[in-house]
Amino acid sequence: MKKMFLKLLLLCLWRLNGVFGESVMEGDSVSLNSPLTEMKNDDVIQWRFGDENTVIAEINATADRITVYDDVLDGRFRDRLKLDNQTGSLTITDTTTEHEGDYELRINSEIKRFSIAVYSVSGVYVMEGESVSLNSDLTEMKDDDVIQWRFGYENTLIAEINKRADRITVYDDVLDGRFRDRLKLDNQTGSLTITDTTTEHEGDYKLQINSEIKRFILIVFGLESVMKGDSVSLNSDLTEMKDDGVIQWRFGEENTVIAEINVTADRITVYDDVLDGRFRDRLKLDNQTGSLTITNITTEHEGVYQLLINREIKCFILFVIDEVKSVSVKEGDSVTLNSDLTEMKDGDVIQWRFGDENTVIAVINKPNDRITVHDDVLDGRFRDRLKLDNQTGSLTITNTTTEHDGDYKLLMFPGRLSSKVFRVSVYDSVHCCGPTEAVIRLVLSALVGVATVIIVVYEIRSRRAEQDQAHIHTSGSIEI
Ligand SMILES: *[C@@H]1O[C@H](CO)[C@@H](O)[C@H](O)[C@H]1NC(C)=O
Ligand SMILES: *[C@@H]1O[C@H](CO)[C@@H](O)[C@H](O)[C@H]1NC(C)=O
Ligand SMILES: *[C@@H]1O[C@H](CO)[C@@H](O)[C@H](O)[C@H]1NC(C)=O
Ligand SMILES: *[C@@H]1O[C@H](CO)[C@@H](O)[C@H](O)[C@H]1NC(C)=O
Ligand SMILES: *[C@@H]1O[C@H](CO)[C@@H](O)[C@H](O)[C@H]1NC(C)=O
Ligand SMILES: *[C@@H]1O[C@H](CO)[C@@H](O)[C@H](O)[C@H]1NC(C)=O
Ligand SMILES: *[C@@H]1O[C@H](CO)[C@@H](O)[C@H](O)[C@H]1NC(C)=O
Ligand SMILES: *[C@@H]1O[C@H](CO)[C@@H](O)[C@H](O)[C@H]1NC(C)=O
Repeated sequence: MKKMFLKLLLLCLWRLNGVFGESVMEGDSVSLNSPLTEMKNDDVIQWRFGDENTVIAEINATADRITVYDDVLDGRFRDRLKLDNQTGSLTITDTTTEHEGDYELRINSEIKRFSIAVYSVSGVYVMEGESVSLNSDLTEMKDDDVIQWRFGYENTLIAEINKRADRITVYDDVLDGRFRDRLKLDNQTGSLTITDTTTEHEGDYKLQINSEIKRFILIVFGLESVMKGDSVSLNSDLTEMKDDGVIQWRFGEENTVIAEINVTADRITVYDDVLDGRFRDRLKLDNQTGSLTITNITTEHEGVYQLLINREIKCFILFVIDEVKSVSVKEGDSVTLNSDLTEMKDGDVIQWRFGDENTVIAVINKPNDRITVHDDVLDGRFRDRLKLDNQTGSLTITNTTTEHDGDYKLLMFPGRLSSKVFRVSVYDSVHCCGPTEAVIRLVLSALVGVATVIIVVYEIRSRRAEQDQAHIHTSGSIEI
């Protein structure tokens, strides 16, 4: 399950270094393949790493010598390099972020370049709508500390604590205001929290504590949910295409290209017969912005969509909802919305969202070890009223009022994607309920009747079964 989620992450991680290199999760192995199938007698192969082009491994076929220089560069490659003596391919095991960078393979006089990005699993990604804290790891600040948070390629200053001047500043209108009202700076530790994240907050964060720099990479997955039969637009966030722009939309585990704009070639292509034609006559590509609209959605369209804009990648997860459960509850009572999960696993993530705005009200993010209830959203109407079961992900709303009327969406990544919608109607005790609710209540009470009957019958049956079983056991054979 966890692997599955990591794979999903990896699909989306490329964009961050802006190169289509190898991406690998910290701790995993990565192989850099040489184009050779076998070594010739006079081949000389060298692997080099980093800015200084340090030689880390070498094969000299003439001398019949294989050398791994694994104590160079402070020993960061020690016991981690495997060199294939047939092909010259290099494997780096148990990677850390220190192995991130450019690798060069020299075969005789030919040069081939590789680039590796290593990501640490924890604390780097978040689902759209969640809050995320970037931790300074300080427990307290000293009197003359200066802390600065910067974001993006331009290293834009977004927050600062200057103890010397006794000043705390959040610059949240920079970058078109994408951080407005979303930044919280802890004045004790200097940690930064970004609330209500969107894909615009994805990128590189740098924390400078005096002269030390710490780097964070934040990945924000876009989440979209749509009812079966409806349409959905996946936004590129571009306002117009550049003259030499290339946009590609890809879908699914195999990254199948489904639509493409090549501005240079003045070409727009929709590949709607791929994947058994599941996208046929359903795709609309906006030739100005590159945004993609999918119409008449079915469950076959659920999954991960990638948008490649030149060399960047944006990731969207599309949930297709094919059922709405109606639930009614008397004002003041509690209602529990069941996830139907029996237990959440290590890699699982779930989100509860409410209303037309899809406001996130509760999150369990196991990989990041976070359980969060956002009960201050929507003017505090959920304050002290939400209970999230940390085993099953089920949500209970206590002391309901008519303000809690509406659609609750549960988005889950337990291995694979799934979603549920609960349409909750809260009726007050005086007026009881509207005609539909009345019918639902009637049906419910009838159902309770049926349930009673079933239980009684079941009990009788199971008693009989027990007797039979006892009988069977004594006779020493089992029949089914
Ligand atoms: C390979 O080994 C041979 C024989 O020892 C030596 O003459 C040659 O210089 C070596 N080549 C390199 C690139 O080290
Ligand atoms: C290549 O490696 C294999 C296994 O690691 C070893 O058995 C073999 O002797 C090696 N060949 C040479 C030429 O070093
Ligand atoms: C730090 O923040 C807390 C609460 O947010 C506030 O009460 C306190 O005055 C702040 N301290 C400084 C030095 O700004
Ligand atoms: C876009 O079109 C130009 C001109 O036809 C072509 O040279 C280029 O390779 C195309 N780019 C992609 C990514 O297909
Ligand atoms: C973009 O689409 C509009 C409407 O679909 C069309 O009128 C226009 O010619 C298209 N522009 C290009 C450059 O293809
Ligand atoms: C939507 O798709 C279904 C099959 O998945 C098809 O039967 C139906 O005709 C489509 N509706 C429209 C409006 O295209
Ligand atoms: C889950 O909830 C139980 C009871 O509410 C609590 O004791 C436990 O610490 C929680 N576990 C986690 C991981 O938060
Ligand atoms: C339930 O909510 C109402 C306001 O909507 C509040 O007055 C009341 O005290 C709450 N009851 C409980 C048991 O929390």
